[in-house]
Amino acid sequence: MGKDRSIIIGSDHAAYELKEKIKTYLLDMGYHVEDAGTNSTAAVNYVEYGKKVAVAVSDGHYLKGILLCGTGLGMSMTANRFPHVRAALCSDIFSVKMSRLHNDSNILVLGGRIVGDILAFALVQTWLDTEFEGGRHLERIQTIDM
Ligand code: RB5
Repeated sequence: MGKDRSIIIGSDHAAYELKEKIKTYLLDMGYHVEDAGTNSTAAVNYVEYGKKVAVAVSDGHYLKGILLCGTGLGMSMTANRFPHVRAALCSDIFSVKMSRLHNDSNILVLGGRIVGDILAFALVQTWLDTEFEGGRHLERIQTIDM
């Protein structure tokens, strides 16, 4: 399957259940989903899973990733340490849309203790459906890693 229909997803224990639901949502839409873990509600360190997804996006193996933890804060802090990663922690549709249009976000971060299932699905759908505008926004994001 093409890279544009493949997504890598990861979470810690706090968002394990939402990760599983989003995984099913993506599979139902025909995406190939690589699950970087965690695989249960047993307590883990979110950094381990955040790094796995961030590395896969940073090195180009995946164009897009989704990360979840309780608040999304730890995952976004972790992921944004990696070159070329633009991880967007969002809990509203406008921010998700703008993170694609203006920032070309390549990792969507959600807080499993912040958003409910239905909102999470809508955030994921909006994120996937919205294309980067490019132009002056491309020039801007190109300076992030400088
Ligand atoms: C786990 O208790 C919690 O700290 C974690 O899921 C996340 O919210 C960290 O940022």
